[in-house]
Amino acid sequence: MSAPDRLIVTPGGRLSGTLTVPGDKSISHRAVMFGAIARGETVIEGCLMGDDVRATINAFRAMGVAIEAHDDGRVAIDGRGADALREPEHALDMGNSGTSIRLLTGLLAGLGIRAQLGGDASLNHRPMRRVTEPLALMGADIATTDAGTPPLRIRSRAPLHGIRYELPVASAQVKSAVLLAGLNASGETRVVERLPSRDHTERMLRAFGVQVELAGHTIGLRGGQTLTGTRISVPGDISSAAFFLVGAAMSEGASLRLENIGMNPTRTGVIDILRLMGADIELLAERAAGAEPVADIVVRGRRLHGVDIPAALVPSAIDEFPALFIAAANAEGTTRLGQADELRHKESDRIDVMASGLHELGVEATALDDGIVIVGRPGALGGGAIDSRGDHRIAMSFAVAGMFASAPIELTGCTAIATSFPGFVATARRAGMAIAAAP
Ligand code: S3P
Repeated sequence: MSAPDRLIVTPGGRLSGTLTVPGDKSISHRAVMFGAIARGETVIEGCLMGDDVRATINAFRAMGVAIEAHDDGRVAIDGRGADALREPEHALDMGNSGTSIRLLTGLLAGLGIRAQLGGDASLNHRPMRRVTEPLALMGADIATTDAGTPPLRIRSRAPLHGIRYELPVASAQVKSAVLLAGLNASGETRVVERLPSRDHTERMLRAFGVQVELAGHTIGLRGGQTLTGTRISVPGDISSAAFFLVGAAMSEGASLRLENIGMNPTRTGVIDILRLMGADIELLAERAAGAEPVADIVVRGRRLHGVDIPAALVPSAIDEFPALFIAAANAEGTTRLGQADELRHKESDRIDVMASGLHELGVEATALDDGIVIVGRPGALGGGAIDSRGDHRIAMSFAVAGMFASAPIELTGCTAIATSFPGFVATARRAGMAIAAAP
């Protein structure tokens, strides 16, 4: 389900009712990757069928793995073990997906599979030395461009050896790339984190039968372990739910229920930050979906206030900041965020793109090297035209802004919404947002 490139959101509307959102993107990628290198069948339910996960599926098909994928999120993978992967005949196109390129590079380097990996204009500008450097320490030979960007070329088939690696940035993609290389390296591989990043890799490797040792901030595994196919049920993506959480939390009188949403504690920073801003959010029916916690979320709208966002919450809300900045713009008082320079390296430079978009709508926002200061006021958002720069989360965040603006917001560059949230427009309309393709 693709999204039109241009969307228009008319002010007003109040989010209400009960919603579900598509499967978690991070978990879906990992379920496909691990199923593809496991022995035995893996069945995934609720897999996100967005463009990013399709890029991962297509990469494994190009390496000879039989994967049956249905639009309803059911995926069946005929796993023949990592040894059965064959070198791809063509460059692997990872589209817009940082998770695909970084995790696959680690996995393929460990397996000694030579391949070239690249993507679209956005992906081809994103930093990759953060993965090629630790992989080189393990013995891999991977070329980047002079700027350290894709295309990546895995050049040697030499076996890797385990390392102990302290992550210089809080990044689950880097952590996972090193651990996946470590699966097929000699000896033990250990990754040390300063602040916890999302731990879906660790949880899911265990579900596939891998022994993963956790000791404080260190994650370790021994090379040479095999994965066994399993069933994975993917919860709704809290990063997709975030747009509706924010939209309902800041709309006085709104009441919205979001069902079966992933509640992994490394991902719930958006709830913590909204609560600090005064939001009324209740978690119901907290339960487990395999290795991941899930819950239903009930959010009731009220007036929010600005906050100083604690640095410790940055990794667990890293993808939700564009939406949170919209909440900050419409809240009473100033919101400050620092120690979040990682936002500059996402699908777009989310600090500059959000600051300039907020300016366009008449909001006082100052971009910092590592964050932003937003002077909020209920009613501060005006109408205008926003270029989402091909970044799905920028497009959906400004769509939410449109509900609270004093005049319509016209969005361009919206096709990227399909990378993570196919069906966003239909879901948003059903929930009460006045959103349509621009004439
Ligand atoms: C992801 C990790 C995060 C996140 C991205 C998905 C993952 O990136 O922003 O959307 O699935 O591991 P970093 O590892 O660069 O922080």
